[in-house]
Parts: sequence; structure tokens; C-alpha cells
Amino acid sequence: MSAAKLIVGNWKMNGLLSDSQPRVEALKSAASGKFEMVLCPPATLVQACGWWLKGSAVKTGGQDCHAQPSGAFTGNVSAQMLKDIGCAYVIVGHSERRQYHKETSADVAEKAKAAHAAGLVAIICIGETDEERTAGRANDVVSKQLAESVPAGATPENTVIAYEPVWAIGTGKVASTDDIKGIHALIRDKSAVKAKILYGGSVKGSNAAEILHLPNVDGVLVGGASLKAEEFLAIASAA
Ligand code: PGA
Repeated sequence: MSAAKLIVGNWKMNGLLSDSQPRVEALKSAASGKFEMVLCPPATLVQACGWWLKGSAVKTGGQDCHAQPSGAFTGNVSAQMLKDIGCAYVIVGHSERRQYHKETSADVAEKAKAAHAAGLVAIICIGETDEERTAGRANDVVSKQLAESVPAGATPENTVIAYEPVWAIGTGKVASTDDIKGIHALIRDKSAVKAKILYGGSVKGSNAAEILHLPNVDGVLVGGASLKAEEFLAIASAA
């Protein structure tokens, strides 16, 4: 595991060929020893982003993959396919996949295993809902998701854990520094794999420095703020 902070942008279902190239090319200047940058655009843009980023240190990633390498799975994309078009990373188990596609931690572990088999780094997302936190169950929920979502064969080289409290995603509500410190220490302690641990949930230029320098925070997973190159670069430069 390198000491550089990992800055990952998740565009979710945003971006067209016509409006993405300038945003992506603006990131080419971002190469720095203090951070590594990964851009996860929608599957339709992964290959084009790889072309636009050629010659830079910025890597590309998918936002999800199927657990099988190929087959009759209409609408899905495999880890092998992402690797084939130049990806180095793939996000698995994002809360939006768990919520809207009913993915379980067991499903997530299978996807992460497929990512590893394809030679991709799996960014495995875990995090509690508002209801679970209010009920005082955040630690239990995160511990269970961690235990069930990280497959055998995970190493610090092929795995990144992203802690994303569901109530902080896209809401503008950021977890307090004490909450982040507490959960990241728990993940570090409980995880058999000494992987990088990212925080995600309403990270922006103005709060990135504070979050990125907390103990056990090895980087950030950024949604909305990664759609603006200037904002995303401001986050990275806080590393
Ligand atoms: P957000 O999303 O930065 O827009 O809160 C984070 C994520 O979903 O990864």
C-alpha cells in the first residue's frame, strides 16, 4: 500500500461524450506524488476517458461489475470487460447498488472476487443508513458489511475499502471528524487486509483537507464534486 492518498471520482449516471472531454482533460495536470487519482465515469465513457487521459497518471475505473466474466446477463458489464478497455479499478457495493438493485454483501464479495480475477482493484463500499446510526448500530452494521463483503484473496494491492455513510451521500451532510475517525479505526482494526480506507459522502474542496488528514483516512470517494474538474482538483490538492 503506497502512502499516497487515493482520490476517486464517481460520476454515477452523469456525462455525455459531448460534455465530458474538457472536464477529463483538465484532470491531466493532476499528476502528483502526494495523491493517486482515479476517475469512474459511466460505462459508456470509460474507454473515451482512457483515451483522453493517455499520458497522465490518472487511472480509470468502472462503477460496478457482474460477478461472472461473460454470459447471458443482459445489460451487465463484467470485470474482464472493464479491464479490456483499460480500467484499473472498479467500485463494488456502492450503497446505490445495494439500495436500488438489492445487492447483498455476499453479492458484493462475488463481484470483488471477479474484479480480482480480472486484475482490477476492487473499491468495496460499506456504510450505515441514517436509521441504523440513530439506533446506535453503525459500528455493528459496518463490521458486518466489512466481514461479508471482502472476499478471500483480498490484499492491500487489489482492494480498497470505502466507508460511505448512506445519509452523507449526496446530501451535503458530512460525517463529523469524530464519526469518521471512529469508523475508520474500527475498519482498520477489524479488517484482515491492510487496505487503503477511503471516506465518501459530500466531500468537497472546502472540507477535503480536514477529512484527508484524519488518522486512517487514506483517500476519498467523491460523487457530486467530481463532476466539476476544478472542484475535484481542489480536493486532490488538499491531499
Ligand atoms: P457524494 O457521493 O460525494 O455526491 O456525496 C459520494 C458517493 O456516492 O460515492
